[in-house]
Amino acid sequence: MQVHGKPYRTVWIDSETDSVEIIDQRKLPFEFKTVSLSSTSEAGIAIRDMWVRGAGCIGAVAAHGMLLAAKECLAKTTNTSDFDHLFRQKGEELCSTRPTAMNLRWAVERQLRECGSVSLLEEKVTRAREVAHEIADEDAEWCRLIGENGLPLLEEIFEKKGGQEPLHILTHCNAGWLAFVDHGSATSPIYAAHDSGIPVHVWVDETRPRNQGARLTAWELGQHGVPHSVIVDNAGGHLMQQGLVDLVITGTDRTTYTGDVANKIGTYLKALAAHDNGIPFFVALPSSTFDWETRDGVGEIPIEERSPAEVTHLSGVDAQASDSEETEIRLGPESSAARNPAFDVTPSRLVSALITERGVCEANEEAILSLFPEKREAR
Ligand code: MRU
Repeated sequence: MQVHGKPYRTVWIDSETDSVEIIDQRKLPFEFKTVSLSSTSEAGIAIRDMWVRGAGCIGAVAAHGMLLAAKECLAKTTNTSDFDHLFRQKGEELCSTRPTAMNLRWAVERQLRECGSVSLLEEKVTRAREVAHEIADEDAEWCRLIGENGLPLLEEIFEKKGGQEPLHILTHCNAGWLAFVDHGSATSPIYAAHDSGIPVHVWVDETRPRNQGARLTAWELGQHGVPHSVIVDNAGGHLMQQGLVDLVITGTDRTTYTGDVANKIGTYLKALAAHDNGIPFFVALPSSTFDWETRDGVGEIPIEERSPAEVTHLSGVDAQASDSEETEIRLGPESSAARNPAFDVTPSRLVSALITERGVCEANEEAILSLFPEKREAR
């Protein structure tokens, strides 16, 4: 996607320095900055402390972190089994940074598998570099296909409401290109519709506590010229009752092979409200976000608990100040306790359809495995 007219991905390798470069999401939308990662532990910090975030982006940065890990292993040992042992340890370190995110483990395991099948140590590093590129390219292409496959759903709803009035789409959190390598998951059909001339308007949930909607989704949509309005998270139900939402599309951090969807906290409430108002609730995801082992999302997906400070404090720029320096404020009594579950699980019965790179399917085991038959065979 373009930033100030220049094409960017969220993660790439600098061809001159061989360093891993990322878009640093912490300062957006106030400042656009890129950062170099030079070690596995820096890649881990970037994922854990949310310099990067979002399913596909976390996976791609982890894949690049494993390239840094391979280089570190090569500098430490000349022995293959020591290399593999150390490489695995570094992979586990990366996986422990965000427990709910599926793409993280998926990318690390793919690197371990691919590099494990090569015996020469230098070749393991070469393979790690190739796999990092492959994962990034694949993520971008899969997200592009999600747009292509989701577009007919939006066209149909637009035509049903007369083919004139803007299509009002509600989204939660950021499942845009910043959350992937390019295009995004939830945003990809939105960009495709906008680019094809359908008038779209997006209701952007601000997404407390970290406001990824207000900060990131709103910024991205603005960069692409997509009309949008930021709303407080609690406004969605009311807007749906008033007939002001035609469909909901969200991303997901992990979806079970039975169709239960883990996503940013608050997604479940949007799905309940959409269900009550007869509004389609779509979830867009690349296949790398499916959890092929877990049957019961509500009972089995580990939900990351983040710092209570994200609930009790808020940061932004001082509207009166002339610079874009961020400040933090406390919202309530210092003595009050807070809890901060970062994700929730929307049961499959509330999901109208899943939009994937292979096509659109219902959120149930049979439909998902029909789209990914190789996973049925592997069971
Ligand atoms: O806590 P975050 O920002 O890493 O949250 C993850 C997400 O970006 C969302 O849950 C998103 O909607 C799905 S991932 C594309």
